[in-house]
Amino acid sequence: MAILLPGGAGYIGSHTAIELLEAGKEVVIIDNFSNSNPKVLDCIKKITNKDFKFYEMDYRNKEDLKKVFEENQIDAVINFAGFKAVGESVEKPIEYYENNIIGALALLDVMRKYNCKKFIFSSSATVYGEPEKIPVTEDCRVGGTTNPYGNTKLFIEQILKDVYTSDSTFDICILRYFNPVGAHESGLIGEEPQGIPNNLIPYIVRVANGELKELSVFGDDYDTPDGTGIRDYIHVVDLAKGHIKALDKIEKEGKGLFIYNLGTGTGYSVLDMVKAFEKTTGKKIPYKIVGRRDGDVAVSYTDPSKAKKELDWEATKTLEDMCKDSWNYIINR
Ligand code: NAD
Ligand code: UD1
Repeated sequence: MAILLPGGAGYIGSHTAIELLEAGKEVVIIDNFSNSNPKVLDCIKKITNKDFKFYEMDYRNKEDLKKVFEENQIDAVINFAGFKAVGESVEKPIEYYENNIIGALALLDVMRKYNCKKFIFSSSATVYGEPEKIPVTEDCRVGGTTNPYGNTKLFIEQILKDVYTSDSTFDICILRYFNPVGAHESGLIGEEPQGIPNNLIPYIVRVANGELKELSVFGDDYDTPDGTGIRDYIHVVDLAKGHIKALDKIEKEGKGLFIYNLGTGTGYSVLDMVKAFEKTTGKKIPYKIVGRRDGDVAVSYTDPSKAKKELDWEATKTLEDMCKDSWNYIINR
């Protein structure tokens, strides 16, 4: 029985593939490399010393998907595929709705035809919009997303709830990631945004290595101790391990639709992150304070106790690990 990873060549999917292979699972990856590089597949093999099947295809293509299900015994699907750049989603809403939502629907449709009913979905803390309370718990109100990317996560979550209502033999796990950062400790795989990064850590590491001149800090007038935004940064390997625990839950216990926040439970400000990177890399990170970024919230971090209690999962890597591994990837790539 294999685990199908649409988007498994991407940042979070590739780290999860490693954890699955190391846990002895059979893995099948599909990806169209719209935001990843084929060389990642060799890196996964090198790190794990294990092999897996790969299909270069668009996950929206149902005929190709059927072929994958015909040729493999797929037990569960962990869907990482989709577009994820917030700013780009505002420019290209049709592409975002089409790729993210049509893709999820195609997968669910083909899955039920082959009686594969275990689905894990990469959602995001963005579904909470302006969080109702801090720390954010899974029962907080969702909605108030401010861009098409966030809307796709919210809509797919609703689709999954409707699918489960119509067919309770589905076992569905929605994982709401907080801010994934870092890289595999080998330095072989990591986050590779196209163009100038929009997210904080990819930007900081490129200032540290001289690719970019200085960081713009988006606002220092939030109601936080140093005035800059606070987030729950989580090491991507911890996040990947969370998927293994979620899979365990739906494989062994099953029966239900489950929702978990995956974060550390600790919030760091933008300036905390700058200081932490300076300490780890020994490089100065020049920055200037600019205006707030549209759509940003002041504070977002989770209460991770539901995932700890029900999945027996908690993040173990430190802020130093996050900085060290992000840096190690950048200087080795
Ligand atoms: P990523 O872009 O690195 O990985 C996504 C992968 O999907 C890429 O390899 C891309 O080539 C592939 N893909 C996209 N469209 C496809 C298609 N039509 N057919 C086949 N493959 C396709 O992104 P990531 O950071 O690894 O994120 C994985 C998932 O987690 C995404 O759904 C993202 O929205 C979600 N998520 C990410 C973050 C984050 O900060 N990285 C936070 C919350 C949620
Ligand atoms: C962003 C997305 C969110 C997505 C998440 C995952 C927005 C509004 N939100 O979250 O939907 O799920 O990425 O990747 O884009 N910052 C700077 N300077 C920078 C970059 C960021 O000061 O150059 C600040 C931001 O204002 C924020 C913090 O750093 O306070 C983290 O930003 P970022 O890494 O972009 O993540 P989020 O905004 O939390």
